[in-house]
Parts: sequence; structure tokens; C-alpha cells
Amino acid sequence: MSNPPPTEPTDPTRHNDSLFYERKRGGNNALLIQPYAGGTDPSLLEEFVELAASAGANVLGTATARIDKPNAATLIGKGKLEEIKAQALAVEADLILVNFSLSPTQERNLERALQARVVDRTGLILDIFAQRARTHEGKLQVELAQLKHLSTRLVRGWTHLERQRGGAIGLRGPGETQLEMDRRIIQRKLESLQRRLDKVEVQRTQMRRARVRSEVPRVALVGYTNAGKSTLFNRLTGADAYAADQLFATLDPTVRKLNLPTGDITLADTVGFVRDLPHDLVAAFRSTLSEAREADLLLHVIDAADPIRDERIGQVNAVLKEIGAADLPQILVFNKVDLLEGRSPRLDEPVDAPRRVWLSAATGEGMDLLHQAIAAQLDQGLVTGELRLPLSAGKLHARLQSLGAIRQQSVDEHGWQLDISLPLTDARRLQAGPHGDALDPLIPPAPDPNSF
Ligand code: GTP
Repeated sequence: MSNPPPTEPTDPTRHNDSLFYERKRGGNNALLIQPYAGGTDPSLLEEFVELAASAGANVLGTATARIDKPNAATLIGKGKLEEIKAQALAVEADLILVNFSLSPTQERNLERALQARVVDRTGLILDIFAQRARTHEGKLQVELAQLKHLSTRLVRGWTHLERQRGGAIGLRGPGETQLEMDRRIIQRKLESLQRRLDKVEVQRTQMRRARVRSEVPRVALVGYTNAGKSTLFNRLTGADAYAADQLFATLDPTVRKLNLPTGDITLADTVGFVRDLPHDLVAAFRSTLSEAREADLLLHVIDAADPIRDERIGQVNAVLKEIGAADLPQILVFNKVDLLEGRSPRLDEPVDAPRRVWLSAATGEGMDLLHQAIAAQLDQGLVTGELRLPLSAGKLHARLQSLGAIRQQSVDEHGWQLDISLPLTDARRLQAGPHGDALDPLIPPAPDPNSF
């Protein structure tokens, strides 16, 4: 089906200011605005500066803006807006980045008031994702999320959807070649992207099933962005997954099979987590994160030299909770030990908290300790014992059977009496499913990932 030709709108009521608003093109010379209510938290602005730099922005200056009562039209009050405008002119900024999720109206009004392109936090993160996505699936996911974001910001007009290469922040990806896009074109594009993504996801699920069938334990690397996951992945696999000193270097999981001295595992690298990841993006990246959700063990990589590393650990655990991976066993990998004075590689094995390994993925020091910790964690032995299941727990019974976990069984009108034996990782997965609490007495509680 061919698209209808571009036409000028004939409805005269559409010829009003807001419908014909043309966005500033902007560049990469940025002034950063950190809105705050109550007290300021300098780490928010620091992270935003890093994010902006990571997107390729040339950060010319920063400003904070107190917004106790957010202005519905412009977020920021009039007086402050004048100040910011003067500052933007003084430093010759052509891009204003606002660390906030702006409504389309606010974004538009701010652009008018400041006479510069305005991009909010979500737009910035999407832009970074657009620059970093490497696999076919990753690119599709980013494009889908960008189109969704853009579709809420449409005003009028026709355009030909084109991927724009290079260009300025907020303008990469599906762009506005003329004034704005037509919603129907976007809708069609969204649907076609979704269909292509669904297909890719089916393939990925099949690959994952094959891995599950092969019964090789699955390990996934998770961690705050820039913690060193890709570097560790490369170190562990000898692979050439891309590592760069930029946030979000990893946007697609790479899964490799690994022969550790203690046995085979599959290892998945995942996208870097970040605080307040826009919800649309969590959804868009669900397949990436599902590698983490379905793992037997998470290697939670931490930048040990990060002054707020404990906070980061909490933020990553919060995202893990959001994707249903909070109860999986973790090893805390304190990376970049080479940057810490007086610290050398070490393995801590507390009883009631996750194992902690201090190492350097860059130099390779301490890798043997990580191998040791992975082996110990995966080899936590078998869950064995007597299990009573009601007849209504047929699904669980069938799963146990398919795993070859039933050593002996009898059945009467009350249900099954089983003698089972299965790996702890499988038992934990079943425990999370229907009737899983029947397994509770046989399974030791998982250490609390937040006690470190
Ligand atoms: P995202 O893809 O953004 O989530 O990042 P990541 O967690 O995969 O981090 P990556 O491996 O790209 O590393 C980030 C930066 O930290 C790079 O500049 C690495 O060279 C550096 N790095 C990683 N490990 C170490 C280490 O052990 N020591 C030192 N000094 N630097 C390291």
C-alpha cells in the first residue's frame, strides 16, 4: 500500500500558532537544567552531565531551577526562565537539556521561551540508546520507543519517515524531516515495527529454550551503566563485546557459552541500568532484561571506585525488583579494584549475604576468585526430600517429572507423596510458580541482595 501524497492541510482552523509551530533544530552545544524541589542533590546533576556527555553533547554550562510548584505551561517560573535564557545566550547554547520528564506542551513552550531546542531526560536517554543499539533487535526497540515518544509530541503535517544519521541530540532516529509527522504514518510504522519485533522475539525465545534444554546454568551480568560489564564479559569470554567509556555502551545482550574450569555456563551481558529509567524504555528493553530475569545467577557488577556505589547497588536492585529478578542469587562483583588504593583482589563469603568478589576486569586480577565464586554459587547442591502435593498441583508435578526430579512417588485421593531431588536453581524457579510454596521447607532462603 502506498502512502497518500503530502498535502497542505485545508482546514483553516489548523492554521493556528501551535499547530504550525516549527521546532528549533538545535545543535550539541548544551546548557543543562536541573529542576529541584526542596533540597538539591548534587549527584543528580553530576549524573545528568555524564549522560549528556555520553550523548555527545558539548556541555557549556549548568543551572538549577527550583520548582516547588511546577508550572503546567513551562515547568519553570517566569523569572528563572529569563535568567536561563540570558545564560543560554551568554554561553551560546543551541540546546537546552532538562533533567525532567517534560509534557509535550512544556517542551514546546520552553523552546519558544528560550529560543533553543529543548530535550528532556527521556529524549536524551532515547538518543543515547539510538546511538548505541547494535543488533537488529536493539535498533528496532529503540526506534519503537522513539516513535512512541515522538507521537505524543506531534503537531501537524506530513513527512516522509527517514532515519536521520548524525545530526544533533534529539534529532537522530526517526526524525521530523518537514515540520512534524502525520499520526497515521506513525501508527502504521509503529505497527510494522512491533510486528518485526515480535518475530525477533519469537526467535530469541526459541534460542533461549534451546539453552534451557541444554541445562547449562545461565549467568547474567547486570549493573549500573559504566560499571564495567562489557569489560568483564570480554575478560570472561575472550570475546570482543564493545566496551567504551560511555554510558550505555551495551544495548543488546550478547550471550556466549563459556567453559569455566569448573563447568560450562552461558553468560549474558545486559543493558546498563540507570536510575529513573523511563518506563517506556523498561518495556522496550524487556527482552534484554529477560536474560537477567531468567538467569540462575546474576553477576551484579559494581564500580568499586564510584563514591556513591552503595546507592548504585540499591538502584540496580530496585530495577531488578521491577523486572521480577529480585530473588535470584547474586554475586556482587566489585570491579575496578585497581583504582582503589590499598585494596587487592579478594573473595568474601558471608553466610547471610551474597558472595562478594573484588577484582579488576581491566587487568584481569582476581578473575580466578570470580570463577571460584561462580562455581561455589552454582554448585550449591541439590534440594532433596519428601514433598506432599495436592492433586490440584498437577502442573508442578508435571514440571518435576519433566526435570527428572522425582525419585519415588505414590498417589492417593489427597494427592502425591513424592521423594524429590533437583538442583537448587530449578527448585527456586519452581518455588516462584503456582503451588511453589510446597517447596519452602526444602529450600534454604536466598541471601538478601541488599545486605552487603
Ligand atoms: P554500559 O554498557 O554503559 O552499561 O557500561 P559497562 O558496564 O558495560 O561498562 P564498560 O565495560 O563499557 O566499562 C566502562 C569503562 O570502565 C570503560 O572505560 C572501561 O575501560 C572501564 N573499566 C572497566 N573495568 C575496569 C577496571 O577493572 N579498571 C579500570 N580502571 N577501568 C575499568
